[in-house]
Amino acid sequence: MLRRIAIAVMAVCSWGALHVQAQKNEFFRPKEVWNDTEGNPINAHGGGVLYYKGTYYWYGEYKVGKTVLPSDATWERYRTDVTGVSCYSSKDLLNWKFEGVVLKANPDDDESDLHPSQVVERPKVIYNKKTKKFVMWIHADSPDYGKAAAGVAVSDSPTGEFKYLGGFRPNDQMSRDQTLFVDDDGTAYQFSSSENNQTMHINRLTADYIRPDGTYVRRFIGMSREAPAVFKYGTKYYMLSSGCTGWDPNSAELAVADSIMGEWTVGDPCTGPDAEKTFYGQSTCVIPIQGKKNAYIACFDMWKKTDLQDSRYIWLPLIINPQTQQMTIPWQTEWNLSIFNNKK
Ligand code: GAL
Repeated sequence: MLRRIAIAVMAVCSWGALHVQAQKNEFFRPKEVWNDTEGNPINAHGGGVLYYKGTYYWYGEYKVGKTVLPSDATWERYRTDVTGVSCYSSKDLLNWKFEGVVLKANPDDDESDLHPSQVVERPKVIYNKKTKKFVMWIHADSPDYGKAAAGVAVSDSPTGEFKYLGGFRPNDQMSRDQTLFVDDDGTAYQFSSSENNQTMHINRLTADYIRPDGTYVRRFIGMSREAPAVFKYGTKYYMLSSGCTGWDPNSAELAVADSIMGEWTVGDPCTGPDAEKTFYGQSTCVIPIQGKKNAYIACFDMWKKTDLQDSRYIWLPLIINPQTQQMTIPWQTEWNLSIFNNKK
């Protein structure tokens, strides 16, 4: 009898082990449902990834519930109610643990930027070594996108909870799609689609990263660039971005500059089927892979405008030719970080 029980227990345990193993992600599979370590679809849209002390943290729009097109909408501004900003953690970039909603919606205050009726998009988090605070910037908007503002929240820990400090227009200028970038010298910048999305503003931030310091430049003038994702390779600065067609896809552009507030030149890095439509994705961030030279992941959202919660992710390798420094983002159906093993 005891033997039978022992065999049954072993069988259950090994099934359990197999089951857990089956959930482990071994590959990036762009456009497919991507489950977290609990087996739920990752819900972190328009997101950004921060690396801190051996762990990657992925922050994104936590889109829960029904997608609606407001009855007064004059354009396709499909929306879900604001439920907050989610956070996931990972050591290997493939398997992500849900850390919860780290900036929560505020249903009790209809004046708050975080009220469910508002718009909270493109959260990005950076770490300030001097203040030891994690600083989150969001695109904070009204339901008709007329407010065009940014909001800032801070936390002592990467997994929150973030405290919302408020919203404003950086340098009194409109700010919609946005990202943050910290340079090697610790100076941080906010890139934001301004002037009705026509021109990108590069706003230098104060030493504590919670406000613009008043110095900014207008770049990509009249070029309608959105969804900026900024990174550095060698001594040069790069900005991946999309055009401006709402939730619908268009061509990506990769721009390069010798200095962050200097002049930028552009080209399209995507190759493969549907490259001219960014594989039906829109840029959101570029992740430098720690411990690997010249290895970056270009991250895109594949929006499903009529069911935003089911929007998918397209994470692809950004391949750099070390001789020419030419960068391409080639389509892959399935891949993992070993793709970078032969790259110097
Ligand atoms: C896109 C933008 C998204 C969202 C959407 C709303 O252009 O990149 O973040 O704001 O418009 O239609």
